[in-house]
Amino acid sequence: MTRRILVAGNWKMNGLSADCGWTNALAKAVPSPSEAVDIALCPPATLIGRMKAEAPSWLAFGGQDCSAKQAGAHTGDITANMLADLGCEYVIVGHSERRADHGESSAEVRAKAEAALNAGLKPIVCVGETLAIREAGDAEAFVCQQLVDSLPRSDVGTLVVAYEPVWAIGTGVTATPEDAQAMHAALRKAWPGQGADRLQILYGGSVKPSNANQLLSQPDIDGALVGGASLKASDFAAIIQSVR
Ligand code: PGA
Repeated sequence: MTRRILVAGNWKMNGLSADCGWTNALAKAVPSPSEAVDIALCPPATLIGRMKAEAPSWLAFGGQDCSAKQAGAHTGDITANMLADLGCEYVIVGHSERRADHGESSAEVRAKAEAALNAGLKPIVCVGETLAIREAGDAEAFVCQQLVDSLPRSDVGTLVVAYEPVWAIGTGVTATPEDAQAMHAALRKAWPGQGADRLQILYGGSVKPSNANQLLSQPDIDGALVGGASLKASDFAAIIQSVR
């Protein structure tokens, strides 16, 4: 089974209008991306409209979070429909920073993913263990349970999973390709629905040009969710081009 590769950038809470030249720089650095790779950027919501207007047609866009609700009195929140209205195709849900900063439970993440599906977006559902859980030897059981609890019951092709060990995010420490592969294989087994071999599972956590190829060469790693290294167009381009 050949699955497509997705390389998605997550700018987190970074980026101003002065940074929108990134799309141009990326288009120059990647004149013709491989047919086998999908490429997406999740900038802050404030920049999506402007960046999309200037971006090459092969660059998809995504939000970094969405509400589980449809509309109404929820100051500061953004709906999946609003992201779809901006032309987004994806939305990240359940990122560990949101789980930690906003106390989001897996049940809430699942409701957000359902809202995304209802709006026609592909949710990128994030799971990952802390260092304490890994050191206790419980990583696999924890992450697989998080997956089952966070996933909407939907067709395998409608969503994406991202395995992002919390201890690897923004730390410069990456899971070894072997450890990441083992977790991805376990997650694929834990997929509760049909067609696990079609489930797209990204790795995230300090992915950079120097380690992307090794990670993306693993049989169960179907792409990358890239934080810090996506801020620089040349680094993000190098990660895209490391896919063979
Ligand atoms: P990082 O972030 O690449 O900066 O580690 C990844 C993420 O949090 O999605």
